[in-house]
Amino acid sequence: MTTPTIELKPSAQPLSDSEREAILAEPGFGRHFTDHMVTIRWTEGRGWHDAELVPYAPLSIDPANMTLHYAQTIFEGLKAYRRPDGTVATFRPDANARRFQASARRLAMPELPVETFIAACDALVKQDKAWVPAHGGEESLYLRPFMFASEVGLGVRPANEYLFVVIASPAGAYFPGGVKPVSIWLSEDRVRAVPGGMGDAKTGGNYAASLLAQAEAAEKGCDQVAYLDAVEHKWVEELGGMNLYFVYGDKIVTPSLTGSLLAGITRDSLLSVARDLGYESAEGRISIDQWQADTADGTLTEVFACGTAAVITPVGTVKCNAGEWTQSGGQPGEVTLKLRETLLDIQRGVADDKHGWMHNL
Ligand code: PLP
Ligand code: COI
Repeated sequence: MTTPTIELKPSAQPLSDSEREAILAEPGFGRHFTDHMVTIRWTEGRGWHDAELVPYAPLSIDPANMTLHYAQTIFEGLKAYRRPDGTVATFRPDANARRFQASARRLAMPELPVETFIAACDALVKQDKAWVPAHGGEESLYLRPFMFASEVGLGVRPANEYLFVVIASPAGAYFPGGVKPVSIWLSEDRVRAVPGGMGDAKTGGNYAASLLAQAEAAEKGCDQVAYLDAVEHKWVEELGGMNLYFVYGDKIVTPSLTGSLLAGITRDSLLSVARDLGYESAEGRISIDQWQADTADGTLTEVFACGTAAVITPVGTVKCNAGEWTQSGGQPGEVTLKLRETLLDIQRGVADDKHGWMHNL
């Protein structure tokens, strides 16, 4: 498969330096977008074509666009960080590219070559480099590559045309509380994904499926929902947009990839970072009863959630039908904070990148 050359059509009206600086001073999450975007088309029989870096602008959608009806759409999330010397690097874009291919396979969509995915992200970050927040804080430039069926028609089948797009958004803390622990509602009836379903693909439908339980969690005074497996309603899987880790003293354990949870790149990175720091790390099965019992007897010392947008966020309070408990006294745990700092240091270019994860631009 050939990688199309990305043709540059720069924005005639980028935001002024002062407007951009005002946004970067308080970016929030997913509220502001940079001046450009990359678009690449795919057509049956022709493959990938018309790769362009164009001004950020609305897309025109036909009411009978197949995605609006049958949800053939996938996305990714990765970040670009500013280093102390002012240069910029992205974190493991190859891993996002491969997961994007896996999501595409699951939804019967064409696979974008890994090098095209990375080239598209690189082109956008290079063009809008001024939008990468300054080194020093936790801010970064969040990249959102996505692809959807662009064919018009109501027949239920894989589309013959797709549009791949990359947009970018400066990002501060995903949770306004920063490293303040979040509260979790353990959903014992609503599930996010089922065996054989799409839980391990990064597709919009999984997020739509999570929203009602998320609203119910909010009614119960919780920030996030933790989903259990759909068969026994017993095994802890993940949150709506983050994986989970359980800290047993100096061992960290994350739920195994059963097929119904997303293979997070932060999750995968932490298995290695933990070992580098001298902790043990493993994948395993953790039941809701074990979560409660191990917290009560003090063996489960900390719990945290992790993902690109949320980085590493401690879990404070947990609520379920059987009751409520507090994790590590409702404070961020020591291991959680150590892992968080180490991962962020690698990403910000101040710690040794011994695994070769950073992709310099
Ligand atoms: N699980 C879900 C459902 C997610 O949406 C995300 C976010 O991307 C994650 C886990 C964490 O994945 P990653 O670390 O690759 O961002
Ligand atoms: C991410 O962390 O990149 C996510 O996709 C989570 C959420 C914003 C959907």
